[in-house]
Parts: sequence; C-alpha cells; structure tokens
Amino acid sequence: MSDLSPVTSGEDAQDPSDEADSSGDAPVGEPVIRVKAMTMGWGDFILQREATFTVNRGDVFVLLGGSGCGKSTLLQHLIGLQTPLAGSVEIAGLGERGPERWGEPRFRVGPPPFGVMFQSGALFGSMTVGQNLSLPLERWTDLPPDAIASLVRGRLGLVGLREFEHHYPSEISGGMKKRAAIARALALEPDLLFLDEPSAGLDPVSAVELDDLILTLNRQFGLTVVLVTHELESIFKIATRCAFLDKDSQSIIARGDPRQLRDESTDPRVRAFFNRLPRSVAEEARA
Ligand SMILES: Nc1ncnc2c1ncn2[C@@H]1O[C@H](COP(=O)(O)OP(=O)(O)OP(=O)(O)O)[C@@H](O)[C@H]1O
Ligand SMILES: [Mg+2]
Repeated sequence: MSDLSPVTSGEDAQDPSDEADSSGDAPVGEPVIRVKAMTMGWGDFILQREATFTVNRGDVFVLLGGSGCGKSTLLQHLIGLQTPLAGSVEIAGLGERGPERWGEPRFRVGPPPFGVMFQSGALFGSMTVGQNLSLPLERWTDLPPDAIASLVRGRLGLVGLREFEHHYPSEISGGMKKRAAIARALALEPDLLFLDEPSAGLDPVSAVELDDLILTLNRQFGLTVVLVTHELESIFKIATRCAFLDKDSQSIIARGDPRQLRDESTDPRVRAFFNRLPRSVAEEARA
C-alpha cells in the first residue's frame, strides 16, 4: 500500500519490457493488471471478446469507446464485481483469476488493494461526506476514531473539500461529489485507482482541476490510475496509454499512446474518435 508520499524519480523509471502487451505501447513500470483474452457477456449476448491488455505501474490508463461498448462493465470485471465468460484478470496483490476461481474466498477477504470511483459517484446519501470516507477505514482497519477522523480530513484536504466534511452529498455540487467519491476511493491509501468518467458533466474549469488532481495522484503520490473518459483534452493531457473498445466488433481495436493513435492509427474508427471527425467521414475513408 502506498503511504501517499511522493515518489522519487528512481521509482518513476521507464521499463521497456511488456511481454503481455504487443501493441508497441511504452510501458512505465512493472505490470499491475494483466487482462488475458477476457470475454464479457451474459448468456448469448457477448459484449467484448478476448480483451487483452496490460496496465503498468505508473500508468494513467484510459478505457475509451462509444456509449454501450462496455467500459463500465470492463471496470466491474477488473474489480471483481462481474465474472467473465472466459479469460482471466490478474491484479498485483490478488493473483490471477478466471471464471472458475472468481468466487474463491481469498478474493473476498481483506480490503481491496485498489480504490474505485463509480460512474454515478455512489456516495451514501444518508451519510455526510466525512462519514462516507470513514466507512472503509472503520470496515477494514483497527484505527481509533481520532486517527480515522484525522485521515478523513487529510483525504478531504487532498481533493479540496476540507470545509465540507459535515455536508451531505445533496448539499454539495456535482463536481464536489466526484471529488468526494475520489477521496473515499483513496481512504485506504491504495496504489491503484479506478475512476469511471470522473469529469463527465463538469464545467471546463472543474474538469481541468480534476485532471490536475489525477496527475498529482499519479506523479507525486505514485498511484496507477485506470480511468474511463470521453474527454479528448483530458485524454491527451493525462493518459499514458489507452485501450479503445469497439461495440460493433466486440473487441479492443487499438491500444497505445493516445497521441500516437490520433496521429498514426490507420483505423478510421480510431482516427474519427481522436480527431473528432463525423462517423460518415470515417466510414468513407474506410471504403
Ligand atoms: N449485468 C448486466 N446484464 C446484462 N447486460 C448488461 C449488464 N451490465 C451491462 N450490460 C449491458 O452491457 C452494455 C455495456 O454497458 P456499459 O455500462 O459497460 O457501457 P459503457 O461503455 O460504460 O457506456 P457509457 O459510455 O454510456 O457509460 C450495455 O448494453 C448494458 O445494457
Ligand atoms: Mg459507463
């Protein structure tokens, strides 16, 4: 677990080896998540087939794609809330698990080695912001109440919500709710953070502030971040790598540095997304 103290430049070093990911990406550190040929779906409905990618320590790894292609569902598979039809997910500290091992008790015991911000924020409305943050600490640690209170205040300070500890979610703005949800995801000092559309619906200034917060968590505190977002500006600013999910082909059609994909991808769907081209233009280019 990270103590949320800044990383040194040595820990930031680049590691060119990444045998599980042959996309030509530039990995940052050792693998933290390995997804191998994972198929997601329910019954006859297949959402994504044989998804394969690696997230390395220090990455800000973005999951991209049109609405309904399966980004949130993929996050739910990574954190163990959904069981894949085939393939496996390996997370550092948890080991590898495929469908047959999904329900094993060892995957359900102890605090998760990651923090999660769900697409909806998912704060408990009947609890104050501070109580929302205390919850994981009370559940998973033996810390006395004053130590928990101090940690909660620290996390709230990190996301700029120190003054709002005693407010209920209904009493704070949408952007503040998202920051509160991120603070709760940080409560147990994880090394790995999952964020589902953290800046969706925010005004441009709040969105930029959120990007800066993610960059601070990544660069100063050493967190690896897996994030779903559609915001191109944000992607080019904070992402180290990405995986592009396509609904029609039920597959990941591109992986790598988003800036490189924008400039060099030969796939019209990928070029259309990164260059904000209408779909028709992309289809024409494909024909
Ligand atoms: N438990 C489930 N059972 C059946 N279908 C599901 C289930 N969960 C999600 N789906 C379906 O999977 C598809 C992908 O949903 P998901 O929420 O992952 O999309 P998304 O890429 O996150 O979209 P958005 O950008 O709109 O958030 C949807 O068609 C959804 O109805
Ligand atoms: Mg979603």
